[in-house]
Amino acid sequence: MNMPAHPMEPFRIKMVERLVSTTREQRAAALQRARYNLFRIPSELVRIDLLTDSGTAAMSDGQWSALLRGDESYAGSRSFYRFEEVVRDLFGFEHVIPTHQGRAAEHLLFSLLLQEGDAVVSNNHFDTTRANIEARGGLAIDCVTDCAYVTDAECPFKGQIDLAKLNDALSRHRVVLGMATLTNNTGGGQPVSLKNLREVAWVLRNRGLPFILDACRFAENAYFIQRRERPDLSIRQIAREMCALADGCIVSAKKDGLANIGGFFACRSAELAEQFKQRLILVEGFPTYGGLAGRDLEAIAVGLEEVVDPAYLEYRVGQVRYLAERLDREGVPIVKPPGGHAVFLDARKFLPGVPPEQFPAQALACALYVEGGVRSCELGSLMFAAEGRPAKLDLVRLAIPRRVYTASHLDCVAESILCLYERRHAIRGLRLVRDVPVLRHFTAELDVVAG
Ligand code: F0G
Repeated sequence: MNMPAHPMEPFRIKMVERLVSTTREQRAAALQRARYNLFRIPSELVRIDLLTDSGTAAMSDGQWSALLRGDESYAGSRSFYRFEEVVRDLFGFEHVIPTHQGRAAEHLLFSLLLQEGDAVVSNNHFDTTRANIEARGGLAIDCVTDCAYVTDAECPFKGQIDLAKLNDALSRHRVVLGMATLTNNTGGGQPVSLKNLREVAWVLRNRGLPFILDACRFAENAYFIQRRERPDLSIRQIAREMCALADGCIVSAKKDGLANIGGFFACRSAELAEQFKQRLILVEGFPTYGGLAGRDLEAIAVGLEEVVDPAYLEYRVGQVRYLAERLDREGVPIVKPPGGHAVFLDARKFLPGVPPEQFPAQALACALYVEGGVRSCELGSLMFAAEGRPAKLDLVRLAIPRRVYTASHLDCVAESILCLYERRHAIRGLRLVRDVPVLRHFTAELDVVAG
């Protein structure tokens, strides 16, 4: 049987970071101390950290040297102008406003556009986006295609918005804003096609509603569009084309910005930009730094240029595909086709004996940590349960940090998952012992269900 091929890294390694070794007993004890919440585990006790691809990228020599160019002037920093130029060029929006990370941009934007009872439609709102909408008394409505909920259905654009669901939401709720998450993190890092973005933009425009992209993983989305829809366009052209359909974007630069911190809001409307800046000054900082250091702006500017390199994207998405194919070949239930930033395990199929009320994805993520020291993230009923109802899917996300791990690390992850798969009947469900009202997956406490 042929092994799936791992793409060759289009870089070599100049600096390394030591990985710690822990014993199974140490990890089991750490998990108990952390109350079965992987966000509470010290990173020192994690061997391979796939909790998130956010802020965890390895920076390039180009980025590290750009840090030294950082201009730390409070106002009018030249690092800001450099950052602004790169964002304008890639995204095509005139007004560019930095924030310290993505959720700050979300918070500021929603505080301007949302009143209590207003609704926001999207394919899927990610956790912080949803929470920021709900914190304003708003309603976050998911309109993703039904295909997204069938984990083994190989639709090419599983992140796309279902137009019937969109129209239904528009007719039944006071929708004030349309969004699309590129790629759709919640549903498996799945792309949205240009065709779908065009249709959604048309529906929203007819209603006079703004369309804002949540474009954290814009380059990965553009890669899939190039592969599956528009091979005639370059990654840069696709990025411009996606943005041309929208009125603005919010971006966490901790993903495809290849930076460890940062974000921004960019838009066409001078009026909206001005209102945004006024709020920004109150909570984030002056508009030429927005809560970041000048050097951070430099790192993002270089990162945004590097992320659209076709050789980088080929490697990046190929690495995710490599891990996915290894697991799929052995019958491990995953979301198919693999997305851009992570492999997602279908925990309900992996652990058929653990009902959704017992958080199968969290139970699986915890078991994987004890098995191999691999930290992953639950995207399921712990993160997304609404009014006591389980989420539609219980997934474990193995998010691959950018440019950090090699093929042998991923082999090690695969081995741990395969061992666990053999012993899956021994994995028990979890119950909440301390719940919290907002974004509970970050701080909730759990315990193993007796039995
Ligand atoms: N939108 C999406 C689609 C995201 O995935 C995230 C963060 C944000 C917005 C918020 O950005 O973290 O810079 O404030 N997602 C991370 C994750 C945390 O693990 O997927 P932020």
